Amino acid sequence: MGAREAAPILVAGLRRLEYRGYDSAGIAVLDERRPGGIQRVRAAGKIAALADKLGVEEPTGRAGIGHTRWATHGRPCERNAHPHRGGSVCVVHNGIIENHAELRARLEEEEGRRLTSDTDTEVIAHLVDSHYGRLRAAALAQAGGEGARLVAAVQASLAELRGAYALALIHDDHPGTIVGARSASPLIVGVGEGGEAAELFLASDVAAILEHTRTVLDLEDGDVVHLDADAGLAIHDLAGQIVERPRRRVEWSPVAVEKQGFSHFMAKEIFEQPQAIRATTSGRLPRAGEDDLGRGEPSFPELAELDVPALAARAKVTMLACGTSWHAALAGKYLFEQLARVPVEVDLASEFRYRQPIVRPGDLAVAISQSGETADTRAALMEARRLGATGLAICNVVDSSIAREADRVLYTHAGPEISVASTKAFTTQLAMLTLLAVHLGRRTGALTLERAAGLLDGLRELPVALDAVLGQAAAIEIIARRWRSARDWLYLGRGLAFPVALEGALKLKEISYVHAEGYACGEIKHGPIALVDERVPVVVLALEGPGYHKTLASLEEVRARGGKIIALASAGDRRIGDLADDVILVPQVDPYLQPILASVPLQLLAYHLARLEGRDVDQPRNLAKSVTVE
Ligand code: G6P
Repeated sequence: MGAREAAPILVAGLRRLEYRGYDSAGIAVLDERRPGGIQRVRAAGKIAALADKLGVEEPTGRAGIGHTRWATHGRPCERNAHPHRGGSVCVVHNGIIENHAELRARLEEEEGRRLTSDTDTEVIAHLVDSHYGRLRAAALAQAGGEGARLVAAVQASLAELRGAYALALIHDDHPGTIVGARSASPLIVGVGEGGEAAELFLASDVAAILEHTRTVLDLEDGDVVHLDADAGLAIHDLAGQIVERPRRRVEWSPVAVEKQGFSHFMAKEIFEQPQAIRATTSGRLPRAGEDDLGRGEPSFPELAELDVPALAARAKVTMLACGTSWHAALAGKYLFEQLARVPVEVDLASEFRYRQPIVRPGDLAVAISQSGETADTRAALMEARRLGATGLAICNVVDSSIAREADRVLYTHAGPEISVASTKAFTTQLAMLTLLAVHLGRRTGALTLERAAGLLDGLRELPVALDAVLGQAAAIEIIARRWRSARDWLYLGRGLAFPVALEGALKLKEISYVHAEGYACGEIKHGPIALVDERVPVVVLALEGPGYHKTLASLEEVRARGGKIIALASAGDRRIGDLADDVILVPQVDPYLQPILASVPLQLLAYHLARLEGRDVDQPRNLAKSVTVE
């Protein structure tokens, strides 16, 4: 909202948010210079379809709202696309309204309203419209003018909603006004570079507004925000009091959300990994030339008060995450237990809350999330804290909901990750977990100074090894071409390579829609080997280290059944060439650092297979980058 036309700004912002969902999209704009109230344009499919429609007739007006959808209630189609209208109100919403069915029934039966979509969101528009009408009839909330009445109507509506929401709405009779609200779904306010009198933004992610401003403030749960073309910005907290929320300057540069010459964000993000790992580790690694004692100590001032010996002896760590981040958590268990001798449980965040977990005061709950907005992970972290654990978040997005929910937060600093399939966020999570394991290992006494220093040196040198792996992208593309017709894939790994195998299989599934499964090597003989024949490529992570010989045994079992082997092996391995159909070599590094290195060829393999299939690599079907609903 401001002096400029809203529609082009909305569409550009939605394009930046498209990774969050892309089933359907729409905008609603209000022009005080033009009669007829709010103009709304919606389209099924991606933003491009909406842009095509807008190309025919672009609504004018300097205040507007927009949305790109990942369907929760109601199939993706124009009728279910946001913004939704109820009477004079148009609304866009992220989240889920749990009691939408009863609200809908009441609105239909008692007020005779006709709801036209299958969504939970539409009830919000009707509810606000209904409360607004009631307040106007009673001439209530006049103090503060008409805008105050709209805010009061929103507050009254929110009191009736159960569930999660970030919403923004406009009203036919209120040009120059946008009201937003948040509860458990992300929502930020952006203040234009010319100050709040010049331009104001509301967005669910900073990426949407980065090209206009880097000054943002984060709303708290329960906040209702009133953006007014004349009066500027007013935030009301849960109790209805006007409050100030701190402003912050976003570090991410607008070019970080561009493709920069790559054909896909995924490729760009894969190639950014050497730099991303540097960004994660550099502030934590001891400086070169550090005295003897400092050499093995990564810096974690955030954790100074954590009683690590007690954690190891009498408590435990519970790691909570979803999707790719859950694979990082699985690797975290190996790292923490082996390097620090701290017991770790790993839970899928969506399962944790409902399985009556045993968590006690003194435990540490580590929530891992790229976006920091995954609703399942946030809810699991809240539950762990409720049970008495200290909450530690490992996030990429600064000041995200999970980061703010936690007692302590460690940022991975990978920079914005746009591609839906996670790559650099995963490897930087692994790097952070490795650093953390070294830190804990020093504090429990499980790691000698020499061993710790060796691992930290290895982390410092890792970007160079990653460059060498990336140098093989063309060779990996050739392997992808050879196996492109395969419809089933297996990925096998042992120890720390097991979560990497799971992640490799997930990458392939996500972006190429080809079936792939990851297994622990030792498990293949207990069932999955039945799948093996000459049409099934089996990717075996056979890097040198403690489990190498046992891994070769599994590889032989597969070969004996006619399976085709693509082996990931350490440079210098002379045996593997005779055992595998294809070999990808990665530089020799410490076995504890191998997961970071080994992830990269698997990302490249999935990327090339998806490209060869002609898939929409950055926005695979049915997925969204951050799922802000449980
Ligand atoms: C979604 C994405 C996955 C991601 C998961 C967890 O499902 O499609 O790629 O791994 O969310 O996301 P987070 O932001 O919490 O790491």
